[in-house]
Amino acid sequence: MYIGRAPSTSANLGSGFDVVAVAHDAYYAEAYASVGSGCGVHVKFKGYDPGPDNTVARAFRRLFETLGVCRYVEIVVENKIPVARGLGSSGAASVAAIAAFLEEAGLRVDPRVVVEAAGYGEAAAAGSPHYDNAAGAALGGAVVITSLSPLDLVKFSPRLTFVVGVPDVPPLKSKTKAMREVLPRAVEFSTYVRQIARVSALVSGLARSDPALVARGMADEVVEPARTKFVPAYDRARRYALEAGALGFCISGAGPSVLALVEERDADAVKEAIARAYAEEGIRAEVKVASTTE
Ligand code: HSE
Repeated sequence: MYIGRAPSTSANLGSGFDVVAVAHDAYYAEAYASVGSGCGVHVKFKGYDPGPDNTVARAFRRLFETLGVCRYVEIVVENKIPVARGLGSSGAASVAAIAAFLEEAGLRVDPRVVVEAAGYGEAAAAGSPHYDNAAGAALGGAVVITSLSPLDLVKFSPRLTFVVGVPDVPPLKSKTKAMREVLPRAVEFSTYVRQIARVSALVSGLARSDPALVARGMADEVVEPARTKFVPAYDRARRYALEAGALGFCISGAGPSVLALVEERDADAVKEAIARAYAEEGIRAEVKVASTTE
């Protein structure tokens, strides 16, 4: 049986809210699909139960709507990506499940159709669709959403090294939705211009595989300041990571995980620094070195 597989992702990378994501080899989601006759989607999640209206079921409904077909499919998702940690677990589960289904059903579709369906499914967890995590999980590398409607995107393949800090804290209820509700409704025009410069640095850095330029784009004065108070040990982890040589630091997706961009030679020192920050605040956490993955 074919196993659909999709990697963890970090969306936003600071200034690229909802339009930039990187795929990394920190964790993976896997899924199996059995296709039968008739019409209907049944999804089982090994180890947790997000209920019937989950991201994967919604993604399939959207996929069938877009393709104008309905098939009977049973999906089993084995998600090794920590759930509700800002690591794209739900988008990766949908992408892995759709990949397994397409293979079993002998169908080929444009990757944008998969991203659109998986991003649409994200509304089950986030309150509204967003495509960044799903795009990273489906295409790998670094993905930039260049149009939301119709959905379009560009993929780059930078070689970047990260340290991912994943705190073991109880997730907030409807975490992504809550983290989107705290965002500012408006920004000053001068802030908007500074933010465009950062996003430009981010995208240029991803295109050129230039870590210093990516790090400049990881600064953010719109989304991240509204969220840091919900991210355990954010200030200390950021300070220690930068002191240990990290080039950039940001919240991974909607948090509570954090992401440091590092030169490979500094990865262990930054990993140790972030682990120390969590330990000093009494927070259990997994801290991993990860690389961009295809
Ligand atoms: N771009 C989304 C957000 C990612 O930050 O809300 C959610 O995982």
